[in-house]
Amino acid sequence: MATDFKTPSITTDSTKGATTDSISQSTNPALRICCIGAGYVGGPTCAIIASKCPDIHITVVDVSAERIAAWNSDALPIFEPGLDEIVRKIRNRNLFFSTDTDKAINEADLIFISVNTPTKSYGFGTGRAADLRYVEEAARQIAHTATNNKIVVEKSTVPVKACESIKTILKTNKRPGVSYQVLSNPEFLAEGSAVHDLLAPDRVLIGGDESIEGSLAIKKLSWIYEHWVPKEKILTTNTWSSELSKLVANAFLAQRISSINTISAVCEATGASVKEVAKAVGLDSRIGNKFLDASIGFGGSCFQKDVYNLIYLAESLKLEPVAQYWLQVIKVNDWQRERFAHMIVQNMFGSVSGKKIAIFGFAFKKDTADTRESSSIYVCRYLIEEGATLHIYDPKVTSERIFLDLSEQTGTNETDLLNHVQIANEPYAAAKDSHAIVVCTEWDEFIKLDYELIYSTMQKPSYVFDGRLILDHDQLMSIGFNVFCIGKKPPKNQFLTQSPL
Ligand code: UDX
Ligand code: ADP
Repeated sequence: MATDFKTPSITTDSTKGATTDSISQSTNPALRICCIGAGYVGGPTCAIIASKCPDIHITVVDVSAERIAAWNSDALPIFEPGLDEIVRKIRNRNLFFSTDTDKAINEADLIFISVNTPTKSYGFGTGRAADLRYVEEAARQIAHTATNNKIVVEKSTVPVKACESIKTILKTNKRPGVSYQVLSNPEFLAEGSAVHDLLAPDRVLIGGDESIEGSLAIKKLSWIYEHWVPKEKILTTNTWSSELSKLVANAFLAQRISSINTISAVCEATGASVKEVAKAVGLDSRIGNKFLDASIGFGGSCFQKDVYNLIYLAESLKLEPVAQYWLQVIKVNDWQRERFAHMIVQNMFGSVSGKKIAIFGFAFKKDTADTRESSSIYVCRYLIEEGATLHIYDPKVTSERIFLDLSEQTGTNETDLLNHVQIANEPYAAAKDSHAIVVCTEWDEFIKLDYELIYSTMQKPSYVFDGRLILDHDQLMSIGFNVFCIGKKPPKNQFLTQSPL
């Protein structure tokens, strides 16, 4: 490889806006990185690398000028606990956000591809295969732009063999004399805990080929992480294993949630409590206690997409039993969302039509403003279809985002949606005059609310449907609420409201 740790190919003027001190720190870095895609993966990952590696200069680029402007402002485009302080310290020191992709590509020794890879919504593989058009665009742009050798690192979640496709694009479009090494380095961070996950990863996975050049490229990438990650936690594998491991890790996590959610239904029909069962089962060190929280179903940009990726791979390989096995994980997740909505309707005299219902939480989990595949969206859709009026409160999700998601999910335009949905600025306003509170996201603030006060402002009988098992149900019942939740049979002494239908 012509890239050299100590002699970066180009010094830069991308330090525009930086202080004199920061310029001197960043004009002679040991390595220059360009990250294509300033999203949930690219932004936090590069912030941590830059904060841990003052000798590395990183430019994160995006096609969205709005997103880049936000990264350069005081209101970052994503909410991630602890991230603001880190970005503030290193921005324009050795971390830069820019829309000038060509320039950043040319200056870089190593390029991360961190673009979005949604599930295909058209053509072959609709609803199953990953849409790799953004990855392909990024690869083509690198090939057309780069005038010297690069290490290209695939960070986005991709199907197995994506690195192979990137290699082919680079090889067939490259400028004369330029060569590439392509590595897979999947990111395992979870939203809401991204800073912690990046600072103390369980492992860093690097996949590459076994040639001399491939091994050198792996070494360079590994060197970056060795700034703060113990060497024994940096795993190197072949490219396929690395790509597949990412899908399998997410599929296993999703499978655990679907497993415990099937058990939640058994618990509701018997006298068992899913929390107690999860605790008893999770204490077996072979099983472990993580990812056993029953819920209204997993959301987020990765789990469903990656399970579908695995299903698509199995189908393509004609491994039908494998595909069917993993399909159940998705089906159970869909069923859990619907089951929860049904629980609400059934226990409110069989109808929510014309009733005001307060929705607590719209994000797919706490500590993020991300709503991609959030189970709240699905629960809201079912309730809207049943004629309910929803008053939605989420501490971080914007009303624009909520209307966009619900409009897309229900097929109703945003103006018509206003007849069914209102956004509340705080939980007490959402609950006032409502018949029921539905907890969809496990935000800590919902635990600490004054439920006596809330009860006094609600219609009677008043209900709480706890889809996250976070509230004190005994206390709520002592106030007078009828309480229903995932994974626990409702106590008999509640006001009997179940529809005989
Ligand atoms: C996930 C993986 O955890 C991460 O390693 C990968 O890089 C990206 O995908 P993320 O989607 O950000 O991360 O969040 P995660 O914490 O995994 O939660 C996903 C969904 O599962 C959320 O909706 C969450 O509420 C739900 N969940 C999680 C449960 O319902 N029960 C649990 O026990 C854990
Ligand atoms: P993830 O959760 O995987 O990080 P996001 O959607 O949050 O996904 O972020 C991906 C980012 O990649 C988006 O901001 C998008 O604008 C950006 N992007 C997609 N294609 C390109 C490209 N060719 N060049 C630069 N940025 C891109």
